[in-house]
Amino acid sequence: MASTQQQVKNPFRPGAGHMPPYLAGREAEQKEFKDLLSQDVILKNLVLTGLRGVGKTVLLETLKPIAITEGWLWVGAEFSESTSVSDEHLCTRLLTDLSAVSSSLNIPDEKHTTIGFGGSTKTLNFQGLLDIYHATPGLVIDKIKRVLEVTWQPFQKTGRRGIIFAYDEAQNLVDQAEKEQYPLSLLLDLFQSIQKMGIPFMLVLTGLPTLFPKLVEARTFAERMFRVITLERLNKQESMDAIVKPTEKPGCTFRFRTETVDLIYQTSGGYPYFIQFICRELFDAWIQKLDDGQNPVAKMGDIVRKLDTDFFSGRWAKATDRQRELLEVISYLSNCDAEFTVQEVVEKSKQVLSKPFSSSHANQMLSSLCAAGLVYKNRHGKYSFAVPLLGTFIQRQVKERDSRTV
Ligand SMILES: Nc1ncnc2c1ncn2[C@@H]1O[C@H](COP(=O)(O)OP(=O)(O)OP(=O)(O)O)[C@@H](O)[C@H]1O
Ligand SMILES: [Mg+2]
Repeated sequence: MASTQQQVKNPFRPGAGHMPPYLAGREAEQKEFKDLLSQDVILKNLVLTGLRGVGKTVLLETLKPIAITEGWLWVGAEFSESTSVSDEHLCTRLLTDLSAVSSSLNIPDEKHTTIGFGGSTKTLNFQGLLDIYHATPGLVIDKIKRVLEVTWQPFQKTGRRGIIFAYDEAQNLVDQAEKEQYPLSLLLDLFQSIQKMGIPFMLVLTGLPTLFPKLVEARTFAERMFRVITLERLNKQESMDAIVKPTEKPGCTFRFRTETVDLIYQTSGGYPYFIQFICRELFDAWIQKLDDGQNPVAKMGDIVRKLDTDFFSGRWAKATDRQRELLEVISYLSNCDAEFTVQEVVEKSKQVLSKPFSSSHANQMLSSLCAAGLVYKNRHGKYSFAVPLLGTFIQRQVKERDSRTV
């Protein structure tokens, strides 16, 4: 006989970029994106930002059909670290993405058009785009700009509103002055320039909270060029929907008790990845117990321990002992899950450490924690944890450590 595990499929999807069984909330963000699509001349592009696991990638996925319904084309990819190494890499990325929608289009081929013989044409596939790129004199920016300009001409006849260039993990794109490579500045200059010419190509960039400050640091005009949407944790109702709705599908006999829903909400803090993770574990435990003929009871403590191992431990392990000490000090701040200042950290360290941090040392340590991706600095000079609920994780570590010491 098939086991319950084989018969019942766990609907929950904790995983980077995995579409959840029910996408809770996010209507306001989708509406804001739809508003941007009504621009004739593109004055605002979109930055979609938020902490790890808050749901940027899956929201980006849902924007694609919205754009297509509104008459736009959609191209894009993830900015891997290798895309960011040079201007040429960025151009190759853009040409590759553009060719995905332009390869069925043709333009008159200026080189081969001879008077009296009708016109020969050039196909705008990757090679065609690359030919235009190489045939254009000037700097990299002149070449890539020319390709986009030329490509838009035949699109106009297709009745399309424009093209969205959507890039995930865009915080990876960085200028590297020491190598004289400026792919980030190039991208911003390019889109600003073609948008000024009235070409409706829009940028949608998704990334960690470091993304927008990086854009503004590269080009101050980026401040005006983007509408920034910061994805927050789900509110109580949205969290409950994310937990309960997937079990309401036809054929699913599994139900969370009201107290369990509440406990999942409290433990997850409304963060989508944590919701998916906890629900998946509870669902699996339920299947397992049914197979064993036992009463299904899953212990939240066990699940949180597993979450600590799967999600937090790797990041925690990267920190040095002294960095951990500083992180622990931060975790005692009542505002550790929001923003905190160097001064607050220094003050708290005087209360809880025998060897407190000086202002300059705390500053220096916070910079190194930013580089390690555990903390980030916002544009107003305040700091936040870059990982959701890191404070409560640290507190659990502290408790465990203290229970081991006599
Ligand atoms: N609105 C939502 N409702 C329910 N689950 C969601 C929602 N948004 C995201 N999730 C779930 O949360 C998890 C993380 O989503 P996603 O990978 O999109 O986050 P992210 O912000 O892109 O993370 P990262 O910063 O690591 O790239 C996935 O398991 C996804 O199914
Ligand atoms: Mg993502």
